[in-house]
Amino acid sequence: MGYDIALIPGDGIGREVVPTAVPLLKEVALKHNFRIEWTNYDWGAQRYFDEGRMLPEDGLDDLAAHDAILLGAAGHPDIPDHLTLRELMLPIRKRFDQGVCKRPTILFNGVESPLRGYEGGEIEFVVFRENTEGEYADIGGREHQGQSNEVAIQSAVYTRSSTETIVRAAFEAADERGGTLTNVTKSNAQAYGMVFWDDIVAEVAQDYPRVEVERLLVDAASMDLIRRPHEFNVIVASNLFGDILTDIGGAISGSLGLAPSANINPTGEYPSMFEPVHGSAPDIAGRSIANPLATVLSGAMLFSHVGEEAAATTVRNLVADQLADGSAPRTPDLGGENGTLDVVADLRERLKNGTLD
Ligand code: NAD
Ligand code: IPM
Ligand code: MN
Repeated sequence: MGYDIALIPGDGIGREVVPTAVPLLKEVALKHNFRIEWTNYDWGAQRYFDEGRMLPEDGLDDLAAHDAILLGAAGHPDIPDHLTLRELMLPIRKRFDQGVCKRPTILFNGVESPLRGYEGGEIEFVVFRENTEGEYADIGGREHQGQSNEVAIQSAVYTRSSTETIVRAAFEAADERGGTLTNVTKSNAQAYGMVFWDDIVAEVAQDYPRVEVERLLVDAASMDLIRRPHEFNVIVASNLFGDILTDIGGAISGSLGLAPSANINPTGEYPSMFEPVHGSAPDIAGRSIANPLATVLSGAMLFSHVGEEAAATTVRNLVADQLADGSAPRTPDLGGENGTLDVVADLRERLKNGTLD
């Protein structure tokens, strides 16, 4: 068995964490007797500086042929973000119909949460974020720029098919895990899109009688993720709200550098994309101190998605073992003094020495 994976390291720390994580993922695949063909796409800010585009015009066509994509991060401080992200990452999510964004938050043993009194395993939830429309719909415009009558319009879009898809994926997960599904909206202020969203949740809930549904407004949900994170299980939210809540998830589980993400094409017609939740982190880029574990764990989500569950478990166990080990290397975001390479070298050592499970 073999898989054909596209790699897009991208910008900033993406260029550090992806090339560092890949050899480990290769070794895990080898141990589990499957092959991965990696194709590296050197897309990103450097290409933008050289050629005025983040990627070749027909670049997305090339991606379509792969089984999955592993992305680092995109974004450079010298290029406006709306240009870079609207050329690279957001079009991949939309063109490949990756409507289901799955972002787990886990407080691992051995990691200190900034929240007082939380031990490893006590925070464990997953956010299902709608990933192709909502507040990220590229619909709107600006007129009369610079004049006193200037106007900017940015429309949010909620379709029945995409909303049902994300809501159903979240219910499936809640049904499987047992426990509550928290529906996060802002229906008190957004009476069309968000009330429509709530209606879809109520409709789909009929098919999942075992799942208890909790409803929270996004402002209260942000507070409760700090105040009572242990009570969350599965959260479903729109594109923007899911984006914000998952950075909170990263922070309360010890570091954004631990938070992985999957952008899933639910029909399997197109490749899905796996990426850390974090961005290109220009404040630490180029110093080889970025935490690679969010990317490593995104690799585990990729393995799981292509059906290599045992390999995914190996990767997760390696990371859990390392984090639980007080003498293992750690990057500065976790209070350590080690570098990106040290952390992955240690995981590779553990893989070499350890048993598979
Ligand atoms: P960011 O996620 O890059 O960084 C936020 C903070 O978290 C920074 O202090 C950074 O040092 C820290 N951090 C992030 N990842 C880390 C890691 N692996 N190890 C240690 N520390 C880590 O967010 P930002 O600063 O708002 O955005 C920077 C750029 O990245 C912008 O251009 C933004 O648009 C882009 N961005 C891209 C993606 C993506 O491609 N998936 C995601 C988020 C932001
Ligand atoms: C993320 C990022 C992106 C998003 C940005 C860079 C457009 O923050 O993947 O969380 O908001 O989706
Ligand atoms: Mn984000």
